[in-house]
Amino acid sequence: MIEEMSSIDTDALQVFSDWNDAATVRTRPNAYDLSGWTQEGEQDKDWFVPAATPWLADEAVHCHGDAVRQAILARYLVMFLDYTTELETRIVNRAITTIAHDRIGLGLSPALKLTGLKLYADEAYHAVMSAEVANQVSAIYGIANREVASERVRNIRALVNTVEPAHTELAWFVVGFVSETVITKEFLKISKATVYAPVYRMLRDHLEDELKHSLYFSHLFTIVWQGASDTQKTFMSGFIVQAIYEFFRLHETWLFENLKCVGVDAASAWLIHERQQGHAPHRARARAGCTATITAMKRSGFFKDPMNVKRFAEAGLIE
Ligand SMILES: [Fe+2]
Ligand SMILES: [Fe+2]
Repeated sequence: MIEEMSSIDTDALQVFSDWNDAATVRTRPNAYDLSGWTQEGEQDKDWFVPAATPWLADEAVHCHGDAVRQAILARYLVMFLDYTTELETRIVNRAITTIAHDRIGLGLSPALKLTGLKLYADEAYHAVMSAEVANQVSAIYGIANREVASERVRNIRALVNTVEPAHTELAWFVVGFVSETVITKEFLKISKATVYAPVYRMLRDHLEDELKHSLYFSHLFTIVWQGASDTQKTFMSGFIVQAIYEFFRLHETWLFENLKCVGVDAASAWLIHERQQGHAPHRARARAGCTATITAMKRSGFFKDPMNVKRFAEAGLIE
């Protein structure tokens, strides 16, 4: 058992072994300047990944032409980046303090805790670069209503606040683990899209860091799960489902408001908005988005307990 634990430790540490030479914060600061941007200069490129916004293909949006399509993508990008900025500082970095200071009391090694601080530094820089690009795109498009992005962050923090104080630190770890394992899937769509160069570079650099974060948190999950007491395990297995669902809940009004803002009529905007809301699409997004999360949990032994298999199947997250 002890040998097994130390090999997981080594795996988690290995992920960050080239941090000084590879992390975006150490190697590529300030490479995301949009001041030279012109629409003509970058023909056939988008502000964001159309795959993330399937409703662009809806006739009610499509009929407005490319300028509206780009305005919507720009708005989506700013929303995504503002959300990222808050997520990094208020969710992921709050979660990593649980690990960096071993607040669950698992006896984590000093090296493992130090690695957590490197991830903390990465996320702080991701917040900086996301905010920088969001500000530039907002200025180009005159986007003002940016406070909407924090709804999901508020919901996640509220969820953590509902747990018994004895489980608060564990809840933060779970939220961090879910966040860091679902984010890469979101970013992977980017590497296949044709996005304006400075934005693309920023998103790709973020993705490179996140692939490592996802691995680190996956290894940590095994360490935490195997070190947890029965009471902690019971808490975790229920809370993970809630956390996953919270990450795939859509903003209550963003889509409707923004479609209207770029000129889509209110009735069509509402129809498109409503199709994305509701339990069935929410469930489909959660299931499709949490595959890396489930893989990491499988490796930890989580699904050796038939109750956990049943719980996840009933929640619609596994077969
Ligand atoms: Fe990040
Ligand atoms: Fe991360």
